[in-house]
Amino acid sequence: MKQGIFISLEGDDGAGKTTAARNIKNELEKMGLEVVYTREPGGSPIAEQIRQILLDPANKAMDAKTEAVLYAASRNQHVKDTILPALQEGKIVLCDRFLDSSIAYQGYGRKLGADRIEHLNDFVLEGLRPDLTLFFEVSDETGHKRMVSRGDMNRLDQESRQFHEDVRQGFRKIKSNPANTERIHVVNAEGSVEEVLEQSMKIICEFIKSKKDFDHE
Ligand code: TYD
Repeated sequence: MKQGIFISLEGDDGAGKTTAARNIKNELEKMGLEVVYTREPGGSPIAEQIRQILLDPANKAMDAKTEAVLYAASRNQHVKDTILPALQEGKIVLCDRFLDSSIAYQGYGRKLGADRIEHLNDFVLEGLRPDLTLFFEVSDETGHKRMVSRGDMNRLDQESRQFHEDVRQGFRKIKSNPANTERIHVVNAEGSVEEVLEQSMKIICEFIKSKKDFDHE
Protein backbone atom coordinates (compact mmCIF):
# COMPACT_ATOMS: atom_id res chain seq x y z
CA MET A 1 0.00 0.00 0.00
CA LYS A 2 1.27 3.47 -0.83
CA GLN A 3 1.79 5.78 2.09
CA GLY A 4 2.27 9.51 1.75
CA ILE A 5 3.67 12.05 4.18
CA PHE A 6 1.49 14.12 6.46
CA ILE A 7 2.95 17.55 7.28
CA SER A 8 1.16 20.12 9.43
CA LEU A 9 1.98 23.82 9.70
CA GLU A 10 1.28 25.52 13.00
CA GLY A 11 1.62 28.90 14.66
CA ASP A 12 -0.42 31.70 16.14
CA ASP A 13 -2.31 34.11 13.88
CA GLY A 14 0.13 36.40 12.11
CA ALA A 15 2.91 33.83 11.84
CA GLY A 16 2.76 33.81 8.03
CA LYS A 17 2.00 30.11 7.61
CA THR A 18 -0.32 30.48 4.67
CA THR A 19 2.22 32.30 2.46
CA ALA A 20 4.85 29.79 3.51
CA ALA A 21 2.52 26.89 2.66
CA ARG A 22 1.98 28.17 -0.88
CA ASN A 23 5.71 28.53 -1.43
CA ILE A 24 6.52 25.13 0.08
CA LYS A 25 3.94 23.48 -2.19
CA ASN A 26 5.55 25.10 -5.25
CA GLU A 27 9.01 23.96 -4.25
CA LEU A 28 7.91 20.37 -3.60
CA GLU A 29 6.08 20.25 -6.92
CA LYS A 30 9.21 21.48 -8.69
CA MET A 31 10.89 18.39 -7.21
CA GLY A 32 8.25 16.26 -8.94
CA LEU A 33 6.27 15.46 -5.79
CA GLU A 34 2.49 15.42 -5.61
CA VAL A 35 1.22 17.76 -2.91
CA VAL A 36 -2.25 18.31 -1.52
CA TYR A 37 -2.55 21.65 0.29
CA THR A 38 -5.39 21.77 2.74
CA ARG A 39 -6.41 23.68 5.84
CA GLU A 40 -8.30 23.58 9.11
CA PRO A 41 -10.95 24.31 10.04
CA GLY A 42 -12.31 23.15 6.69
CA GLY A 43 -10.53 21.27 3.93
CA SER A 44 -13.56 19.33 2.63
CA PRO A 45 -17.09 20.46 1.67
CA ILE A 46 -18.81 19.60 4.97
CA ALA A 47 -15.82 20.73 7.04
CA GLU A 48 -15.85 24.08 5.20
CA GLN A 49 -19.47 24.57 6.29
CA ILE A 50 -18.41 24.02 9.90
CA ARG A 51 -15.59 26.55 9.31
CA GLN A 52 -18.16 29.21 8.41
CA ILE A 53 -19.88 28.77 11.79
CA LEU A 54 -16.59 28.75 13.70
CA LEU A 55 -15.09 31.88 12.17
CA ASP A 56 -18.23 34.01 11.79
CA PRO A 57 -17.64 37.17 13.89
CA ALA A 58 -21.41 37.25 14.55
CA ASN A 59 -21.12 34.08 16.69
CA LYS A 60 -19.69 35.93 19.68
CA ALA A 61 -21.85 33.95 22.10
CA MET A 62 -20.33 30.59 21.14
CA ASP A 63 -19.43 28.59 24.24
CA ALA A 64 -15.82 27.36 24.44
CA LYS A 65 -16.89 23.69 24.56
CA THR A 66 -19.11 24.13 21.50
CA GLU A 67 -16.10 25.64 19.76
CA ALA A 68 -13.83 22.73 20.74
CA VAL A 69 -16.36 20.13 19.57
CA LEU A 70 -16.93 21.91 16.25
CA TYR A 71 -13.19 22.04 15.53
CA ALA A 72 -13.03 18.30 16.26
CA ALA A 73 -16.08 17.66 14.04
CA SER A 74 -14.55 19.62 11.17
CA ARG A 75 -11.31 17.65 11.65
CA ASN A 76 -13.07 14.30 11.52
CA GLN A 77 -14.73 15.08 8.20
CA HIS A 78 -11.52 16.55 6.80
CA VAL A 79 -9.47 13.49 7.77
CA LYS A 80 -11.98 11.08 6.20
CA ASP A 81 -12.66 13.08 3.02
CA THR A 82 -9.28 14.62 2.22
CA ILE A 83 -6.28 13.61 4.32
CA LEU A 84 -6.53 9.81 4.44
CA PRO A 85 -7.37 9.38 0.73
CA ALA A 86 -4.40 11.58 -0.27
CA LEU A 87 -2.02 9.68 2.04
CA GLN A 88 -3.26 6.38 0.63
CA GLU A 89 -2.41 7.67 -2.85
CA GLY A 90 1.15 8.34 -1.69
CA LYS A 91 0.86 12.14 -1.78
CA ILE A 92 2.34 14.74 0.52
CA VAL A 93 -0.40 16.40 2.56
CA LEU A 94 0.46 19.95 3.61
CA CYS A 95 -2.10 20.92 6.22
CA ASP A 96 -2.43 24.51 7.42
CA ARG A 97 -3.18 23.85 11.12
CA PHE A 98 -4.19 20.56 12.76
CA LEU A 99 -4.53 19.12 16.28
CA ASP A 100 -1.85 21.34 17.86
CA SER A 101 -4.02 24.37 17.05
CA SER A 102 -6.90 22.89 19.06
CA ILE A 103 -4.58 22.26 21.99
CA ALA A 104 -3.12 25.78 21.80
CA TYR A 105 -6.36 27.71 21.13
CA GLN A 106 -9.02 25.70 22.94
CA GLY A 107 -6.76 24.00 25.49
CA TYR A 108 -4.62 26.98 26.50
CA GLY A 109 -6.34 30.03 24.94
CA ARG A 110 -9.86 29.06 26.12
CA LYS A 111 -8.38 27.29 29.15
CA LEU A 112 -10.30 24.06 28.57
CA GLY A 113 -7.11 22.10 29.32
CA ALA A 114 -4.67 20.44 26.94
CA ASP A 115 -5.51 16.92 28.19
CA ARG A 116 -9.23 17.33 27.68
CA ILE A 117 -8.71 18.59 24.13
CA GLU A 118 -6.40 15.64 23.39
CA HIS A 119 -9.06 13.25 24.72
CA LEU A 120 -11.79 14.83 22.64
CA ASN A 121 -9.64 14.55 19.52
CA ASP A 122 -8.59 10.96 20.28
CA PHE A 123 -12.18 9.98 19.53
CA VAL A 124 -11.79 11.52 16.07
CA LEU A 125 -8.19 10.74 15.19
CA GLU A 126 -7.74 7.22 16.53
CA GLY A 127 -4.00 7.73 16.74
CA LEU A 128 -3.49 9.66 13.48
CA ARG A 129 -0.82 12.33 13.91
CA PRO A 130 1.21 14.37 11.41
CA ASP A 131 4.55 12.77 10.50
CA LEU A 132 6.17 16.19 10.69
CA THR A 133 5.05 19.56 12.07
CA LEU A 134 6.58 22.95 11.32
CA PHE A 135 6.01 25.49 14.07
CA PHE A 136 6.16 29.05 12.74
CA GLU A 137 7.32 31.19 15.62
CA VAL A 138 7.13 34.97 15.87
CA SER A 139 7.34 37.31 18.84
CA ASP A 140 4.08 38.53 20.43
CA GLU A 141 4.83 41.95 18.95
CA THR A 142 5.30 40.77 15.35
CA GLY A 143 2.32 38.39 15.52
CA HIS A 144 0.03 41.13 16.79
CA LYS A 145 1.21 43.62 14.16
CA ARG A 146 0.82 41.18 11.27
CA MET A 147 -2.62 40.08 12.42
CA VAL A 148 -3.95 43.61 12.80
CA SER A 149 -2.48 44.75 9.47
CA ARG A 150 -4.26 41.87 7.72
CA GLY A 151 -7.65 43.54 8.37
CA ASP A 152 -10.80 41.43 7.88
CA MET A 153 -10.44 39.73 11.26
CA ASN A 154 -12.34 36.48 11.94
CA ARG A 155 -13.98 35.60 15.27
CA LEU A 156 -10.78 34.18 16.74
CA ASP A 157 -8.59 37.03 15.43
CA GLN A 158 -10.86 39.45 17.28
CA GLU A 159 -10.07 37.86 20.64
CA SER A 160 -8.04 39.87 23.16
CA ARG A 161 -4.31 40.30 22.99
CA GLN A 162 -4.10 38.27 26.21
CA PHE A 163 -5.89 35.36 24.50
CA HIS A 164 -3.34 35.36 21.69
CA GLU A 165 -0.46 35.52 24.16
CA ASP A 166 -1.93 32.48 25.96
CA VAL A 167 -2.16 30.70 22.59
CA ARG A 168 1.48 31.47 21.78
CA GLN A 169 2.48 30.29 25.24
CA GLY A 170 0.41 27.14 24.60
CA PHE A 171 2.31 26.44 21.39
CA ARG A 172 5.59 26.78 23.31
CA LYS A 173 4.39 24.23 25.90
CA ILE A 174 3.35 21.78 23.17
CA LYS A 175 6.75 22.17 21.55
CA SER A 176 8.64 21.55 24.78
CA ASN A 177 6.67 18.37 25.55
CA PRO A 178 9.23 15.54 25.16
CA ALA A 179 6.60 13.44 23.35
CA ASN A 180 6.72 15.96 20.50
CA THR A 181 10.43 16.63 20.05
CA GLU A 182 10.85 14.35 17.03
CA ARG A 183 7.73 15.55 15.25
CA ILE A 184 7.91 19.30 15.82
CA HIS A 185 10.51 21.55 14.18
CA VAL A 186 10.62 25.28 14.76
CA VAL A 187 10.83 27.79 11.91
CA ASN A 188 11.86 31.30 12.91
CA ALA A 189 9.16 33.23 11.06
CA GLU A 190 10.50 36.71 11.91
CA GLY A 191 12.64 36.71 8.77
CA SER A 192 11.82 37.39 5.12
CA VAL A 193 9.52 35.18 3.04
CA GLU A 194 12.62 33.71 1.33
CA GLU A 195 14.35 32.94 4.63
CA VAL A 196 11.24 31.26 6.00
CA LEU A 197 10.92 29.14 2.85
CA GLU A 198 14.58 28.14 3.00
CA GLN A 199 14.34 27.00 6.64
CA SER A 200 11.10 25.12 5.93
CA MET A 201 12.46 23.28 2.88
CA LYS A 202 15.60 22.25 4.73
CA ILE A 203 13.52 20.58 7.45
CA ILE A 204 11.10 18.94 4.99
CA CYS A 205 13.81 17.63 2.64
CA GLU A 206 15.76 16.12 5.53
CA PHE A 207 12.60 14.41 6.71
CA ILE A 208 11.79 13.03 3.25
CA LYS A 209 15.31 11.68 2.90
CA SER A 210 15.03 9.95 6.27
CA LYS A 211 11.80 8.26 5.24
CA LYS A 212 13.30 5.62 3.02
CA ASP A 213 10.01 3.82 2.43
CA PHE A 214 8.41 6.93 0.92
CA ASP A 215 7.46 5.87 -2.59
CA HIS A 216 6.15 8.71 -4.70
CA GLU A 217 6.58 7.07 -8.12
P1 TYD B 1 -7.66 31.14 9.52
O1 TYD B 1 -8.17 32.38 8.87
O2 TYD B 1 -7.54 29.92 8.67
O3 TYD B 1 -6.34 31.50 10.30
P2 TYD B 1 -4.82 31.43 9.92
O4 TYD B 1 -4.66 32.04 8.57
O5 TYD B 1 -4.17 32.19 11.02
O6 TYD B 1 -4.47 29.95 9.97
O7 TYD B 1 -8.59 30.85 10.77
C1 TYD B 1 -8.47 29.75 11.56
C2 TYD B 1 -8.65 30.17 13.01
O8 TYD B 1 -9.11 29.06 13.77
C3 TYD B 1 -7.36 30.65 13.63
O9 TYD B 1 -7.63 31.78 14.43
C4 TYD B 1 -6.97 29.51 14.55
C5 TYD B 1 -8.27 28.89 14.89
N1 TYD B 1 -8.23 27.44 15.22
C6 TYD B 1 -8.58 27.00 16.47
O10 TYD B 1 -8.90 27.82 17.36
N2 TYD B 1 -8.59 25.66 16.74
C7 TYD B 1 -8.28 24.73 15.81
O11 TYD B 1 -8.30 23.51 16.08
C8 TYD B 1 -7.91 25.20 14.48
C9 TYD B 1 -7.57 24.20 13.41
C10 TYD B 1 -7.90 26.56 14.24
